[in-house]
Amino acid sequence: MSEQKKRDNDTVVLDVEKLRIHYGTPAGDVIAVSDISFQLYQGETLGLVGESGCGKSTTAYGILQLIQHPGYIVHGEIKVDDEDVLGMTEEELRKFRWTKLALIPQGAMNSLNPTMRIKDQIIDVIEAHEGKQKDKEALKERIFELFQTVGLPNRIYNMYPHELSGGMKQRVCIAMGIALNPSVVIADEATSALDVVVQRIVAQTLIKVKDMLGVSLIVIGHDMGLLAQIVDRIAVMYAGKMVEIAPVENVFADPLHPYTQLLIDSIPSIKERKPLKIVEGITHDPRNPPSGCIFRLRCQHAWDHCASVEPQPIQVADKHTVACHLYDEQFEERRANAFAATTNS
Ligand SMILES: Nc1ncnc2c1ncn2[C@@H]1O[C@H](COP(=O)(O)OP(=O)(O)O)[C@@H](O)[C@H]1O
Ligand SMILES: [Mg+2]
Repeated sequence: MSEQKKRDNDTVVLDVEKLRIHYGTPAGDVIAVSDISFQLYQGETLGLVGESGCGKSTTAYGILQLIQHPGYIVHGEIKVDDEDVLGMTEEELRKFRWTKLALIPQGAMNSLNPTMRIKDQIIDVIEAHEGKQKDKEALKERIFELFQTVGLPNRIYNMYPHELSGGMKQRVCIAMGIALNPSVVIADEATSALDVVVQRIVAQTLIKVKDMLGVSLIVIGHDMGLLAQIVDRIAVMYAGKMVEIAPVENVFADPLHPYTQLLIDSIPSIKERKPLKIVEGITHDPRNPPSGCIFRLRCQHAWDHCASVEPQPIQVADKHTVACHLYDEQFEERRANAFAATTNS
């Protein structure tokens, strides 16, 4: 991966290598995140997609070292601005969270404290890191600036969460996330559980925040259509594995991994009505994944090689990798046949 860094001369702000996270259960470990590697570049928006339970939130919590028991990081390397996160002390981690890397957790808007005014919740975040703020006017100005960045009116300053709409609450959470000027923001399902119009407003807010503050952004979601409109690259996870990472144009023009292809095919289109594609097949027990390729039980192109050898990420274009044997050089002919068969079907 360091080769890639040198070649395109882009700055990597977050570098995750071979991260593996398990949850211990009486029946054995659930492999939630299985040796994933990816980079986030300066100023980039990366969409992290995949079906529910594939390990997106666990990845986010892992990066922040917030995995709770019975979860644990088995191994991996996480670097933010070249600083080793896994080697940090509790004190270093406390500073690192929110100031370097902020997470807007899944369901954050529903965990705002119902008995506290919006201003006090934001002040808590600021004071927890910067200590008691003496200049109350300056603090208020700072919060108004945050409101402006996320498109909230100043009148909510003294309000309680129940007085705000879902979209507003979500923007309060974004405001809290950026309150300490982090260089990386991870928004976990920030647009889920909102109606489509509000989803778009929240998505646009994230992009505006990114542009105004120059942060790098990871947007976790499962709506490929919505993500496509706001991200630069898409990282596709399946059952704890990273199966493809690609610039958004490539994903839509030419999705490579059979699972990415199914995801793209299942995006509804009004212009071109077609039967809904369902990602069918057998799902495996997350404590006991199949040998070889994790997707092979659901893959229409799988052959015996896929059962014996695990596919490794192959770089197919700039910032585009795919983990599928169809893209191994030695199987070029098989690839041609596989896709000829799909187009004819
Ligand atoms: N506390 C837990 N105990 C056991 N398994 C868990 C726990 N939390 C999550 N998991 C499992 O880890 C996997 C990944 O979960 P998660 O990261 O929440 O996925 P996503 O965010 O993509 O929906 C799932 O199989 C889930 O069942
Ligand atoms: Mg999740």
